[in-house]
Amino acid sequence: MNTETLGPCYFVIFGSTGDLSMRKLLPALYHLEVAGRFNEDLRFIAFARRQWDRGEWLSHMYQALKERLGEAIQDDVYARFAARFDFVQGDLHDELAYQRLMDEISKPRVGSCENIIFYLAIRPADFAEVIRKLDRAGFNAAHARHRIVVEKPFGDNLESARVLNAQLHRHFSEEQVYRIDHYLGKETVQNLLVFRFANTLIEPIWNRHYIDHVQITVAEDLGIGSRAGYFDRIGTLRDMLQNHLLQLLTVVAMEPPAVLEADALRDEKVKVLRSIRPISNETVSHYALRAQYGAGSIQGEPVAGYLEAPGVRSDSVTETYVAIKLYIDNWRWRGVPFYIRTGKRLNRKLSLVAIRFRHPPQQLFRETPVENIEPNWISLSIQPKECMQMEVHAKQPGLGMNTRVVRLSTAYRHDHELPLDAYQTLLLDVIEGDRSLFIRFDEVEWAWRVVDPILRHWQARRSPILNYAAGSWGPDEADRLFDSEEHRWRNHA
Ligand code: BG6
Repeated sequence: MNTETLGPCYFVIFGSTGDLSMRKLLPALYHLEVAGRFNEDLRFIAFARRQWDRGEWLSHMYQALKERLGEAIQDDVYARFAARFDFVQGDLHDELAYQRLMDEISKPRVGSCENIIFYLAIRPADFAEVIRKLDRAGFNAAHARHRIVVEKPFGDNLESARVLNAQLHRHFSEEQVYRIDHYLGKETVQNLLVFRFANTLIEPIWNRHYIDHVQITVAEDLGIGSRAGYFDRIGTLRDMLQNHLLQLLTVVAMEPPAVLEADALRDEKVKVLRSIRPISNETVSHYALRAQYGAGSIQGEPVAGYLEAPGVRSDSVTETYVAIKLYIDNWRWRGVPFYIRTGKRLNRKLSLVAIRFRHPPQQLFRETPVENIEPNWISLSIQPKECMQMEVHAKQPGLGMNTRVVRLSTAYRHDHELPLDAYQTLLLDVIEGDRSLFIRFDEVEWAWRVVDPILRHWQARRSPILNYAAGSWGPDEADRLFDSEEHRWRNHA
């Protein structure tokens, strides 16, 4: 499917005045307009509770874009973009609002429209009700070209994810559901597929015979902003690890799919999740560790501890940092630890997949100063820079047998190529009907199976939680996950 063949399309944004819409969706849609990626007959409907008319919505959107784009708005492009928008005022819980939505869509503006995207940028707790009300208002959800986009978190645990899924499936088939994990839209994550499967050099060594261990790090220097209400209930395990980090893991560890199609790709990802060695209640503390940040400083600025953040309960034991060790018990990965960590208020923003290779089998240099050479690394940096780096050894020029690490390093983007926000890729995919970078329900389900035992174990214990200083790289105790004394967290690209 592509926009050319889709015909008239309505893209309805529920929660259009919310944080996600303002920060991510609208800027990404505007950029797609700049890139000329939309058909004439694509229209947007902003659905929101505010007592506004279309004019007020447009001036609000203009203001929001001006503040967030970090670049000048191009007047002609903006005029084209704004002309696509209608505004429907209404409360999500009010049946009449859905009738107004139907009236708006039925206007003979774009001809008969069989192609509607419903984007739920709202609280997951409201998903089921919105879907029910859409159905009652006469939107024939079963229409194959209608699509529904839902944001994470998909459920709070395995059980609630299944309930939510059943509610969705009462009205939409799996093919119509687009579950977003914005990490899959990031350039480097897609690049991992190319890097692994388009290079004869890489794939033959991408296994337990050559790889000693894998590290996946998503470190943020930011705290929780104004999201205490959500975050303090959810914590980092569910906010980041169950989705973004496990998705990264699947892309690093999957087998090559037979073809680059949505289901072939997702089948391989599910196989990885299913092969993860289950963590039992008794072994949680061996495999997983949680912590919360205290006061500290980031780039010279003092930062208050998590418990001081507005809206956080004063006795909260919600984790802001998680580190876990996973094993994938299959022919490719058996015995290779995957160390995965993520946290807020860490030293700086850094998202990284780092692969450490084994020592060379022959100790040719045992009697020389190069005896303790560090094995090779490949690091794929996702943020802040998109780059790939290989560390290999070379002899230092000069007398004697000394070596040094040589870094083969390359950025994925040339300077003239603008960085693409993940949402641009994903929103265009939704419009074009490409599901490859969206999560199928069995992926969600198996990801919850990995995380659920840890969650249950932690929920049963309100024991004091480990602490780390804001601005550090997390608690020292995270080192205890390592299988070998030689292993260290890699805090750079
Ligand atoms: C979101 C989480 O999904 O991802 C946030 O809810 C987190 O807590 C964000 O800050 C990180 O995304 P990015 O793209 O800035 O790494």
